[in-house]
Amino acid sequence: MNILLFGKNGQVGWELQRSLSVLGTVTALDFDSTDHCGDFANPAGVADTVRALRPDVIVNAAAHTAVDKAESEPEFAHTLNAAAPAALADEAARLGAWLVHYSTDYVFDGSGTRPWTEDDTPAPLSVYGRTKLAGEQAIQQSGCQHLILRTSWVYGARGGNFAKTMLRLAQERERLTVIDDQWGAPTGADLLADVTAHAIRHLRQHPQHAGLYHCAAAGETNWHFYANHVLALAAQAQAAIKIKATEVAPIPTSAYPTPAARPHNSRLNTRKLQATFGLTLPPWQAGVARMLAEIL
Ligand SMILES: NC(=O)c1ccc[n+]([C@@H]2O[C@H](COP(=O)([O-])OP(=O)(O)OC[C@H]3O[C@@H](n4cnc5c(N)ncnc54)[C@H](OP(=O)(O)O)[C@@H]3O)[C@@H](O)[C@H]2O)c1
Repeated sequence: MNILLFGKNGQVGWELQRSLSVLGTVTALDFDSTDHCGDFANPAGVADTVRALRPDVIVNAAAHTAVDKAESEPEFAHTLNAAAPAALADEAARLGAWLVHYSTDYVFDGSGTRPWTEDDTPAPLSVYGRTKLAGEQAIQQSGCQHLILRTSWVYGARGGNFAKTMLRLAQERERLTVIDDQWGAPTGADLLADVTAHAIRHLRQHPQHAGLYHCAAAGETNWHFYANHVLALAAQAQAAIKIKATEVAPIPTSAYPTPAARPHNSRLNTRKLQATFGLTLPPWQAGVARMLAEIL
């Protein structure tokens, strides 16, 4: 199997380089790759890459993920999150290739407390959410065989993430406040990459299972509990932090204004993915503990 991976150095892209390697030959590109265009600012260029390499499977881990910055550069975010994936989807349809793509809980408005299903109606609150939704829709309308995994609160041992930010702040500061009214599940880039590899194998045998799925670690938390959890594990590992988990003060989102509005309810119902692909998604705490063991 020939696999073409875009966004190879992102959190998920990095882990995909590992997990896809056992499925076949992987050509992995970044935005500044020189042999072939991997720059999503150039949708025609990435389409040319697909035409030249003729992969069996395209996996797209590239995206404009700077949620607040996207508010001030909506056209650029649209190019990266919607126009380039649309160009890939059109080429995949022409070629008969599979397209694997990632989307986000931010396509929802965050109302209620029930975990969102794939049948719920998206209503994004931000430019990032709107452009990611436009990307999903373009792929679905292209007619290509596709797998779209909507996920939430992604972290990896490589790259910046919330847990690392909390550890840094807990080393520098005497006081820390963290939002306690946005709920979701931190999801490891390694978990997403492993699910992706498994799903690709499954889909080659069961193409009728193509489509959109929610994929996140099991359980739920809010950013405040998540920070507490990280600092408690760091204290157990005797990391040099000044703030104890119990000293992190909860605040409402309204006390921490950001350019982009974020959903209060980011819970994703993952039953469809687990039942269709025969998978069990582990509790979010398991992956976070592993990541901390790697970085502390
Ligand atoms: N991070 C989250 O919390 C989260 C939550 C839900 C869904 N997702 C989705 O999950 C997928 C993977 O996200 P991630 O967490 O791995 O994000 P990430 O670490 O930000 O990776 C995105 C990658 O895209 C690259 N990129 C930026 N501009 C590009 C361009 N013009 N052309 C090609 N590549 C470009 C980035 O490069 P640079 O780093 O050099 O800019 C980065 O390597 C995305 O579809 C994202 O929307 C993420």
